[in-house]
Amino acid sequence: MKVITCRKYGPPEVLKLENWDIPNPKDNQIRVKIINTSVNSGDWRLRKADPKLVRLIFGFFKPRTVILGISYAGVVDSIGKNVTQFQVGDKVLGSTGMNMGAYAEYVCVSETSLVTKLPNTMSFAEGATISFGGLTAIDFIEKCKIQNNQTIVIYGASGSVGSAAIQLAKHFGAKVTAVCSQGNFELVKSLGADEAINYETFLSQKNTLKYDIVFECVGKTEINTDLLFLKKGGNLVLVGASFAQMWESIWISLFKRIKIHIGPIKETLDNLNFLLTLVNLGKYKVNIDRTYPLEEMVEAHRYVEAGHKKGNVAIEVAKL
Ligand SMILES: NC(=O)c1ccc[n+]([C@@H]2O[C@H](COP(=O)([O-])OP(=O)(O)OC[C@H]3O[C@@H](n4cnc5c(N)ncnc54)[C@H](OP(=O)(O)O)[C@@H]3O)[C@@H](O)[C@H]2O)c1
Repeated sequence: MKVITCRKYGPPEVLKLENWDIPNPKDNQIRVKIINTSVNSGDWRLRKADPKLVRLIFGFFKPRTVILGISYAGVVDSIGKNVTQFQVGDKVLGSTGMNMGAYAEYVCVSETSLVTKLPNTMSFAEGATISFGGLTAIDFIEKCKIQNNQTIVIYGASGSVGSAAIQLAKHFGAKVTAVCSQGNFELVKSLGADEAINYETFLSQKNTLKYDIVFECVGKTEINTDLLFLKKGGNLVLVGASFAQMWESIWISLFKRIKIHIGPIKETLDNLNFLLTLVNLGKYKVNIDRTYPLEEMVEAHRYVEAGHKKGNVAIEVAKL
């Protein structure tokens, strides 16, 4: 099978196309013939070990797991003898989490891992791209316990997490202000934002605008600036916080008693199924910016690392 490997940390060019044997599922595993995977912001951070702490977790000198990629959608083509919830031919989507391995034509996963059936209403590309931003956004949104008509500002609203957060915040009854580049206003409004403001205009109003929830998706603002936009008793979400910001936020939460939410998030099957329910109800859509063939993984990484994708980037591994 074709796989994309990452045998050393570095620029997109470290990613190589190789041929590996097709794996066999263990007794409790299903084997998925992957149709689509995706490239997420987490993937390029891991590939280039940014931040350096990545090396402590994934391998000091080189990545211990050679095949990256965490989200996938495809068709079950073989099952282990103890599998009860899936059959050969089932269309599925899932996330391999820290195990990765989705930049490949086949992946074996436990039937009790984060895997579920792909709704008929969704394409494989949508199935492969829903989990990263969607599961991140839902985890943080739930922590904010949104009340009807509360106000939320989503900074960096056009990315994978931001585009998911807009739709989820709307679903829970918030009034959504999306902060993004002017060119993305139409996109964020189509996802449900009540208003869109560009970055410069927004930051220049730090002494006048106040929100119940400040949802910073991209780690580009100072915490002290975010706090200027927060109403008393409000929630600050720092999705893309650096480690320094995480420490800072712990101190601020303790001493100023401000509710600050930081990662890492917990990916759950319940949340994934909740997102799929919203898709089926027509209340949630996955924005796919670009699709690259597996062979163009280097290009896909270059594009995602540039930091301006609109929603998600899918990879076509195979045609059905
Ligand atoms: N805490 C966790 O567990 C967790 C989980 C997942 C992701 N994350 C982190 O969350 C962050 C966002 O992830 P993502 O997948 O949503 O990223 P993404 O899709 O790559 O974000 C792209 C968006 O970032 C915006 N952007 C780029 N430069 C900006 C700037 N200087 N100021 C404001 N916005 C800017 C872009 O908007 P424009 O094109 O309009 O500039 C673009 O729409 C990443 O840092 C990721 O590592 C954390």
